Amino acid sequence: MLRAGADRQPCVIENVTARCRERAPWSFDRRTARGLGGSARIAICPPIARARCGGDAMSSEADGSKRGRFLRKGPAMRTSAPPKQGGAKTMTLAINGHSYALDLDVRTTLLDALREHLHLTGTKKGCDHGQCGACTVLVNGRRINSCLTLAVMHEGDAITTIEGLGSPESLHPMQRAFLEHDGFQCGYCTPGQICSAVAMLDEARAGWPSHATEDVAAPRVALSDAEIRERMSGNVCRCAAYPNIVAAIRSVAGGGER
Ligand code: FES
Ligand code: FES
Repeated sequence: MLRAGADRQPCVIENVTARCRERAPWSFDRRTARGLGGSARIAICPPIARARCGGDAMSSEADGSKRGRFLRKGPAMRTSAPPKQGGAKTMTLAINGHSYALDLDVRTTLLDALREHLHLTGTKKGCDHGQCGACTVLVNGRRINSCLTLAVMHEGDAITTIEGLGSPESLHPMQRAFLEHDGFQCGYCTPGQICSAVAMLDEARAGWPSHATEDVAAPRVALSDAEIRERMSGNVCRCAAYPNIVAAIRSVAGGGER
């Protein structure tokens, strides 16, 4: 019989049985046990539960069955090598009209590929969790959070970052509107706001409704301020430059309703 060595250590039981649940029903931290077979279950019981169930009583030696077996925690539980993760892959990404061949770990996000490997630092990392929109880029004309997608998934896609929308000598109309309407303060969210706004106007022109659209069957969406705010709600501005951001977008959209 194998059992946890020190009294204060939890027991780890392979193959949870009804008897386990009867004796210490509150104790189980059940999970699928990797390396113990696809359907194997383990229970990790704290010392108090172990005292209650008796520990030994659950062993195959004590009751003559094979329903319980104590295992040591840690490496002794592992019956096979951990699965290999990641691995490098050569991939080609089309970004701002240029083709880049990269050797990247397949787990690299598009955001990290842009910033850390291609040094296109216009795209910002805010939350890295899909919450703030600072990392918004365009993929085939549609806006996405580049922190939530893997670079390897975008071979063959046309990726546009803020650097590809315009240049200092020839600004995109949305970039110019943000300048004219003072649509930023610290500017950290601004590349994401601008990329998002450009794609958002295309979505509205295509008649895509939003949560704020009153008549979802209407062929044309009137871009009211409420529409703009709703459609841009995935882009957070910590400086709260929202009124001016809305004004900038409205000016590019052609005025629209207020
Ligand atoms: S960094 Fe991607 S959503 Fe915040
Ligand atoms: S301008 Fe500072 S976060 Fe938006």
